[in-house]
Amino acid sequence: MRTRLLLPTTLALAMAAWPAVAQPDGPMLAEACAGCHGQAGAGQGAISDLRGYDRDAFLLVWAEFAADERPATIMNRIARGYTEADVEALADFFSSLE
Ligand code: HEC
Repeated sequence: MRTRLLLPTTLALAMAAWPAVAQPDGPMLAEACAGCHGQAGAGQGAISDLRGYDRDAFLLVWAEFAADERPATIMNRIARGYTEADVEALADFFSSLE
C-alpha cells in the first residue's frame, strides 16, 4: 500500500514543480545576445546598447523583426527563434538594466 501511494505522489509533486522550472529565464536567454550586443546588453561597436530598452518598444521591435517588417541583416532570423514567453522575459531583463 505504501509503495503504491508513493509513485503517484512523486509524480504529482514533479508535475506541480514543472511550470516553475519551465519559466523562461531572461538573464540566461540574454547570454545568446552577448556575442553581438556585448556583455549584459552594453552594446558593442555599431550594435545597439540594449540596457534600459523600453519594454513595450522592445516587444514591438521584436515583432517587426520576426515579421520582416523592419530592416535587418540578422535580427529578423534571430527573432523567429524565440517564443512569446522568451521575448517577454528578454524584454523584462533588458528594460530592467541601467
Ligand atoms: C549575430 C549578432 C546578433 C545577435 C546574436 C543578436 N543581435 Fe540583436 N541586433 C544585431 C544587429 C546587427 C542589429 C541591427 C539590425 C540588424 O541588422 O539585424 C540588432 C538589433 C537589435 C535590436 C534593435 C536595436 C535598436 O537599435 O532599436 C534589438 C532590440 C535586439 N537586436 C535584440 C537582441 C536580443 C534580445 C538578442 C538575443 C536574444 C539579440 N539581439 C541577438 C545583431 C545581433
